[in-house]
Amino acid sequence: MAPAPVGMTDRLLDAMARSAARRYGAERVSELAHALQCAELAREAGADEELTLACLLHDVGRFAVDPALVFDRVGGGRAGARGHHEVGADLIAPFVPARVAWLVRMHADAKRYLCSTEPGYHATLSPASQHTLTLQGGLMGPEEIARHAAHPWIGDALRLRRWDDLAKVVGKQTAPLAAWEPLLRPCFR
Ligand SMILES: [Fe+2]
Repeated sequence: MAPAPVGMTDRLLDAMARSAARRYGAERVSELAHALQCAELAREAGADEELTLACLLHDVGRFAVDPALVFDRVGGGRAGARGHHEVGADLIAPFVPARVAWLVRMHADAKRYLCSTEPGYHATLSPASQHTLTLQGGLMGPEEIARHAAHPWIGDALRLRRWDDLAKVVGKQTAPLAAWEPLLRPCFR
């Protein structure tokens, strides 16, 4: 892992703080509230530090990257633009354990996987999340399902995904952003 650029932790914390002013897609919570709720759900469930960090940063491609580089739809878009999960994973990959970057990269496909393999899961998604499923590639075929099922970290990706889905509660009280600085700073020092 490469040493992070000077101030990388502060850059991330600043980007997260500013994301309090933006809505999380078409959901009714802010991007910051969503990230804090997701990380807190992971910690409360006993997730290890890597999985918790992945939960905190899973949408880093939304809040810490030039939006012109992000295009959350399969096919089309500006040259070089890719989904927020890919862009976000690439941003942090040089600094975090491989498992953390992989989990961030997987969080859109984890929804596709669950919709393809678990009856009833799709109905639990918010309308916005059901809509983006289509934009992100829709259901998986048998080969893609089998490939993901064989990955050693697939269980973690599905846990993250379920917390991601739940982290949209309007007005829910959480620990403040500063509470996560001790988790971030050792990685991005
Ligand atoms: Fe999310």
